[in-house]
Order: sequence, then structure tokens, then C-alpha cells
Amino acid sequence: MRVLVIGANGKTGRIVVNRLREGTHTPLAMVRDEAQVGRFADRGVDTVLGDLEEPLDPALEGCDAVIFAAGSGSSTGPDKTLAVDRDGAVRSIAAVEEAGIQRYIMLSAMRADPGSEGHPISHYLRAKGIADEHLIRSDLDWTIVRPGRLTDEPGTGRIRVSPKLETPGSVTRSDTAAVLVAALDHPNVSRRRFDLLEGETPIAAALDGL
Ligand SMILES: NC(=O)c1ccc[n+]([C@@H]2O[C@H](COP(=O)([O-])OP(=O)(O)OC[C@H]3O[C@@H](n4cnc5c(N)ncnc54)[C@H](OP(=O)(O)O)[C@@H]3O)[C@@H](O)[C@H]2O)c1
Repeated sequence: MRVLVIGANGKTGRIVVNRLREGTHTPLAMVRDEAQVGRFADRGVDTVLGDLEEPLDPALEGCDAVIFAAGSGSSTGPDKTLAVDRDGAVRSIAAVEEAGIQRYIMLSAMRADPGSEGHPISHYLRAKGIADEHLIRSDLDWTIVRPGRLTDEPGTGRIRVSPKLETPGSVTRSDTAAVLVAALDHPNVSRRRFDLLEGETPIAAALDGL
């Protein structure tokens, strides 16, 4: 599959692109700045310019699946959380439907919830939760991956997944990227949403066991 990676220049997005490149699928890295193109071109990865605050149709041409790994980040204000994490994600889902693409893998977050209240980052959790609900209501073949706190340590290839994990925790960006890529063609994760933390079970077996 030719897989559009939205947020390809981000910390997790870059690992997703590398994993796709090393595997059987072909990445198309969506970046929003011309200056970011070289980093991917040097490794033989095609890029397309796109911004989640703008129409996305041209970026989707010729793609078979989408991995959404973008995010407004903690250094921007709540306005960008709404514009990118909520409205940008919703816009991408509509554009994917319009383009006739079926597979959509969403990098969400543990505790994302359209009704989140009383948490220091409730505005973010609501934005992610609203985007997730929009995806669930779509006709797409979706998977929603909800990691805990992301870390930059090397991956272990071992995780814990469940529709709902109660205890907070973390997982590496490396293992999160591996799960996003594995989800593309894993038979057991179609139209499923699950929490993700570091754990003891190899990724494929953990997804089998959902
Ligand atoms: N941090 C955590 O602990 C945590 C936990 C659970 C889930 N998550 C979620 O995981 C995802 C990835 O996290 P990360 O830390 O790897 O992200 P990151 O390094 O902050 O990267 C985010 C990417 O999104 C891109 N982006 C921002 N606004 C955009 C726009 N308008 N249009 C297109 N692209 C845009 C950025 O582009 P530029 O490179 O141009 O800036 C960047 O490449 C996010 O969705 C986040 O919400 C994070």
C-alpha cells in the first residue's frame, strides 16, 4: 500500500516513515514546509506538501491508506489544539472518505474523550476524542491507537493493549510507530480502538489478543 503519513516530520511520524520504508508498504510523507522535504528525499521517500488547516485532497492522490501522526504539540495554544487535533483530523477523515480510500489509522491518546472535564489537558483530550468519534461514525476501515505518555527511549517490541487500560503509563514512540504500521494489515484491529502502554507481549501477539 502507498501510505500517506500525516505529521511525517514529527517525532513519531518520522519513525513511522522509516518503518514503512523498511517494510512492505510505501510511505508518502506529508509535510507542511518545503524545507522539510530534503530530509525525506535523501532517504528516497516521496513527500507531499499539506497542512491540516487547508484542504487535503491533492495530498491523498494515489494513496491506499493514511496514518495520522500529527499534533499541534504542547507549545501551541488551545486554538491550535482545536484547529489541528480536532478540526484538522476531522478534515482529513472527510478528505479520505471523499478520495475513496478505505484504511485510516489514527494516533490518538489514552483518555481522549469528547466529554473530558477536570483534567489539566481536558481541551486536548476533548479535541482528540471528538476526532475519534468522527472516525468511528465514518464508513472507513479505521483503527484508533491510544498510547499513554510517549517517550523517546529505544523500543522493546513488547506492549500491553486493551480497549481500556485504567492505570496511566508510558510507551516509546518507537513501539507506538511499530503498532501503527502493524495495524495497517493486521486482521484483528479493523474498526477497533485500544489503549497502548509498554508491556511484556510482542506486538503481533498483543494485537492478536485484543
Ligand atoms: N506526547 C505524548 O505524550 C502523547 C501521548 C499520546 C498521544 N500523543 C499524540 O501523538 C501524536 C504524535 O506525537 P509526537 O510527540 O510524535 O508529535 P510531534 O513530534 O509534536 O509532531 C507533530 C507533527 O504534526 C505536525 N503538524 C502540526 N500542525 C500541523 C498542521 N496544521 N498540518 C500538518 N501537520 C501538522 C508537525 O509539523 P512540523 O514538523 O511542521 O511542526 C509535526 O510534524 C500527536 O497526535 C499527539 O497528540 C502524544
